Amino acid sequence: MGARETVGVALLGAGTVGAGVAQTLAAKADALSRYAGRRLQLAGVLVRDTGKPRPALPPGVLLTSDPAALPVADNVDIVVEVMGGEQPALGCIESALRSGKHVVTANKQVMALHGPELLALAAEHGVTLAFEASVGGGIPIIGPLVRDLAGNRITGVNAVINGTTNYMLTRMAKEGASYEDALLEAQRNGYAEPDPSDDVDGRDAAYKLAILSTLAFRCTVREPDVYREGIRQLDVADFVYARDLGYVIKLLAASRLHDGAVQARVHPAFLHEQHPLAKVDGVYNAVELEGDLVGWAMFQGPGAGASPTTSAIIGDVLAIVRASASGGATPPYPDVRERVPILPVAELETKYYLRLRAYDKPGVMAQITGVLGEMGVSLASIIQKEVPEDAGTPAEVVIITHKARESAVQEAVRQLEALSVVYGALKLVRIEDGSA
Ligand code: NAP
Ligand code: HSE
Repeated sequence: MGARETVGVALLGAGTVGAGVAQTLAAKADALSRYAGRRLQLAGVLVRDTGKPRPALPPGVLLTSDPAALPVADNVDIVVEVMGGEQPALGCIESALRSGKHVVTANKQVMALHGPELLALAAEHGVTLAFEASVGGGIPIIGPLVRDLAGNRITGVNAVINGTTNYMLTRMAKEGASYEDALLEAQRNGYAEPDPSDDVDGRDAAYKLAILSTLAFRCTVREPDVYREGIRQLDVADFVYARDLGYVIKLLAASRLHDGAVQARVHPAFLHEQHPLAKVDGVYNAVELEGDLVGWAMFQGPGAGASPTTSAIIGDVLAIVRASASGGATPPYPDVRERVPILPVAELETKYYLRLRAYDKPGVMAQITGVLGEMGVSLASIIQKEVPEDAGTPAEVVIITHKARESAVQEAVRQLEALSVVYGALKLVRIEDGSA
């Protein structure tokens, strides 16, 4: 970092998060400079549309739509990337690191797809790439993972790491909100990604789980390594059954390191109502980590929104300025470039909730349980809702299994859907009873 009295900060993006960062740099200028030891100066802002009114930005600040110049400008020491998307964000980060600028990013997509190489590039150029805001919004999780828990061998991650879907699921379960209304509210609150299908289809959570798993297990886990299902297929009946059975539905992100291989998955799950993650509601996120020394430790806080995300970004900026003032470096990240085998979800063993519609005739239940029995899937309970006799309408059947292998359950689902007495597609939701 240069010897100037001020630290030049380039802001790439001035949307929900960028506006929060710009406002905080102005509103807390004195407190931040006291803590950092130098004044933080906004050197310029990159946006797509330079003609849009920007009330959050200080008057007269340099606005540009050219992603090439600002990240490498001479008066810039730290680049804060909050534009999102893979490109041009990735190119901006690479050129900034190559020019000796420190980079702070909230971009989980870039970190989940290119993180290990970018960390190596930063190390090669003697600068820091910090990304606390990329996972869990305002929750400090990257710092603790690479610094405070470094003495552990971490083998498990369980998390609720998408604020938008957690907000939606909470509103739908507790207040009966519709999917559409809940999503609109999450967007209005600034929680959702520019393309909210990243949230509802589980991609955002898969990016974040890839980042957490990479740091936790010290090997490369990329987003395509993560098995992924979103929340679109859930409906009111699932929330009612979950509640009646003592569960809460969450978009679970879970990964394990086992015998040198990684399994990582994001999908809706029935969590027992006493499960620590079941109590994490609204925009809150939580991450549970299992280390050989610490056991299970949980980190919780607001997972999205301008202010919590700004908190993480400013923390990274201050750490960089203070570390460079004392001639040191921010905590070095472990080398995470090793690839290990990725286990398919077919090898998962857990309990399952299956919901199907079947014609209410003698022998139907025997056919259904017969298929599950042949696949070695043991039943814990069956619920059948009564329908009027001779109505000709299919009855709803809900089955809870004991622990079973996913491959066997998926094969049973295929065979059940092929039965003439079963109407339409089955619904499958995995059930998690405890942390381990
Ligand atoms: P946003 O509101 O859509 O803002 C994106 C900003 O980047 C806008 O100012 C946009 O310019 C600018 N931008 C986008 N593409 C650009 C391009 N090609 N060239 C120049 N400027 C470009 O997004 P956000 O919610 O602030 O999220 C930003 C990043 O933070 C994303 O990586 C997101 O995943 C991450 N994040 C967000 C949250 C959250 O709660 N929102 C939390 C944690 C992390 P215009 O204003 O001209 O359109
Ligand atoms: N869209 C993301 C979420 C923003 O809802 O969690 C925080 O990363």
